[in-house]
Amino acid sequence: MLKLKTALVAFGAAIVLAATAGYGPAAQAGGDWPTDEECKTVAKDADTIVKGWCAAINRKGGNCLACHQATISPWPEGFPPGGNIAPPLVAMAARFPDRAALRAQVWDATVVNPTTSMPPFGRHKLVSEEDIDNIVDWLLSI
Ligand code: HEC
Repeated sequence: MLKLKTALVAFGAAIVLAATAGYGPAAQAGGDWPTDEECKTVAKDADTIVKGWCAAINRKGGNCLACHQATISPWPEGFPPGGNIAPPLVAMAARFPDRAALRAQVWDATVVNPTTSMPPFGRHKLVSEEDIDNIVDWLLSI
């Protein structure tokens, strides 16, 4: 238990470090992420990672950043930084080597945790199947 706690603290410190130092592919992309406004006119053939980002920050779509922190720099306007309702979306590819499990989490988080506050985006059709795939592509890039 103590070991786990130490590991968790170390993991948390690494996240803070990574966030402040701006490490990670998403942070490197930095200002390349389109703004909420720019997302409205994102091209139909745009990269699925960019489309996923747009679906994730859309307040009528995923609205993921309302609850989740992520190593995104600069932090998009209009979202309170440091949201701590949910775990930070970091090192997703390392933590979710199984893409299907990550997609399942976004599609219906209640399967893993029936009392979660995370909306079942797929089951309730809050986000289209295509955008869920795009969001998963985005998640695996951060
Ligand atoms: C209303 C708040 C809320 C919103 C909005 C939300 N989530 Fe979550 N999410 C949570 C909570 C709380 C958890 C913690 C796990 C649990 O409750 O079972 C979680 C867990 C997760 C996990 C698992 C994280 C981990 O580290 O194990 C992923 C991945 C995730 N959310 C992705 C998303 C994505 C992508 C979106 C947007 C499409 C989103 N969430 C929107 C609240 C939210």
